[in-house]
Amino acid sequence: MNPGTSVNCLQPVCHREMDDDMPEECFSELKTGNLGVWGVAQIAAGTGLAVYAMWVGILQPGFRKVPLKLQVPYIPASKVQVDNVMRLLSGRKGGLVDLGSGDGRIVLEAHQQGFTPSVGYELNPWLVRLARFHAWRAGHQGKVSYRREDLWKVDLTKCKNVTVFLAPSVLSLLQEKLQNELPDDALVVAGRFPFPDWKPFKIEGQGVDRAWAYSVQAQRQHIFKKNNTLTSR
Ligand SMILES: C[S@@+](CC[C@H](N)C(=O)[O-])C[C@H]1O[C@@H](n2cnc3c(N)ncnc32)[C@H](O)[C@@H]1O
Repeated sequence: MNPGTSVNCLQPVCHREMDDDMPEECFSELKTGNLGVWGVAQIAAGTGLAVYAMWVGILQPGFRKVPLKLQVPYIPASKVQVDNVMRLLSGRKGGLVDLGSGDGRIVLEAHQQGFTPSVGYELNPWLVRLARFHAWRAGHQGKVSYRREDLWKVDLTKCKNVTVFLAPSVLSLLQEKLQNELPDDALVVAGRFPFPDWKPFKIEGQGVDRAWAYSVQAQRQHIFKKNNTLTSR
């Protein structure tokens, strides 16, 4: 602001110089002063409605038949998280399945690193479309597969490499499904949240980008030993 000029905080914005050093309290007073309580309430209600519409129209479709406690929101894995997941999968071959594949980034990366077939299961139709668009844009259309299916209904008996990035609230239930269905030589990689009862054989990264690798055979052996020691007591 030029020295010597004084500005009334309630003066409308269009009559004011938009200087960088406008005092914050002056700016907020100006905003509430012009809008009034009713205006602020209308903006809040409008924003709430927009968020709700986005939730119902874009994020929620496909989840109506899924019990509330099993619903997991879409949060894409960070680039570092994807790299950590892939590092844990290095040396592995064959197909890969991402359970809850979101915008398809893990599946696409896995395909680019030689996992064939790479398949993503995702309930939200918008995300399935987005994943297909990403694959098309990367020139891998038709080489990766995104299926709109409930991960709880997918038969995993032939899957050798499985990745998951889901909420902690569903991981213990998923643990059971994986344990019951996956072949012994399967490898599971969990991003951001670890399985509650499984012991990882390797961990990559820190904080929110961390990923855990589990051998299914090792989990079965661990459970077998635990049950044996319980019955021999
Ligand atoms: C945290 S996001 C992870 C997305 C992706 N895997 C990634 O790492 O970027 C979890 C995804 O799982 C999907 N999801 C949740 N429950 C599902 C279910 N029962 N069947 C299929 N997809 C599901 C959500 O729509 C969401 O896109």
